[in-house]
Amino acid sequence: MAELVVVADEHAAGALVADAIVSLIRRKPDAVLGLATGSTPLATYRALATRIGDDAIDVRGVRGFALDEYVGLPAGHPESYRAVITREVVEPLGLTPELVRVPNGDPVTVEHAGADYEAAITAAGGVDLQILGIGRTGHIGFNEPGSSLASLTRVKTLTAPTRADNARFFESPEDVPMHCITQGIGTILRARHLVLLAFGEAKAQAIAAAVEGPVTASQPGSAVQLHPHTTVIVDEAAASKLENLAYYRHAWDNKPAWQGI
Ligand code: F6R
Repeated sequence: MAELVVVADEHAAGALVADAIVSLIRRKPDAVLGLATGSTPLATYRALATRIGDDAIDVRGVRGFALDEYVGLPAGHPESYRAVITREVVEPLGLTPELVRVPNGDPVTVEHAGADYEAAITAAGGVDLQILGIGRTGHIGFNEPGSSLASLTRVKTLTAPTRADNARFFESPEDVPMHCITQGIGTILRARHLVLLAFGEAKAQAIAAAVEGPVTASQPGSAVQLHPHTTVIVDEAAASKLENLAYYRHAWDNKPAWQGI
């Protein structure tokens, strides 16, 4: 079972995850972080930036791999995940830009970009801690329902609900690209620690399916049940459809503090 932690809000989640990442970096100064984009992890990145500043953590050796990228956005587009990762993660945390990779969504080279990305993750020794959000459709990364649980980084077609959800970042809904390049579910499962974050009622169904439903490609988030070290951190609203909530709270309340998340 994944560990499930209910927190007051995304700031409390951010503090927990920042703690885990700071202790990882102290143990391993060239730690490899798996970076989600979207709105969910933003408070976590801010909490982490604050911790790094306050505790004067040296992050110059920290490496990163984004989960995904749109295919076909012009280089430098502000909503490309390369731009988002630079703006929300690399700059505020003070990471070394060359050590943070994002899949290459250039249509000219995208055919082999997935294999190149897999090779880069392997060469880096794998991801130590992977931050994940989850879509309303249950996607993790951009692995939409039906994605193979063994999939690796490759091009996917976004579903209509995901394009509609992401339209808020673009001038018009038609501007949301149709294709993306995303780490596969198999890629994500190779990370050593998965931290899945979700906030708000709109995520409650996807979280219930991911944590308590059957493991199925129809609910890509359910793949986290296959991982030996998954931490799911949610607020009350995102937890509201979980059946075993009382037990998750009990387990968390009685967890030895030294274990962290
Ligand atoms: C982003 C990603 C997606 C998002 C998901 C939730 O890199 O891989 O799986 O985590 O679409 O998006 P938000 O956080 O905007 O609700």
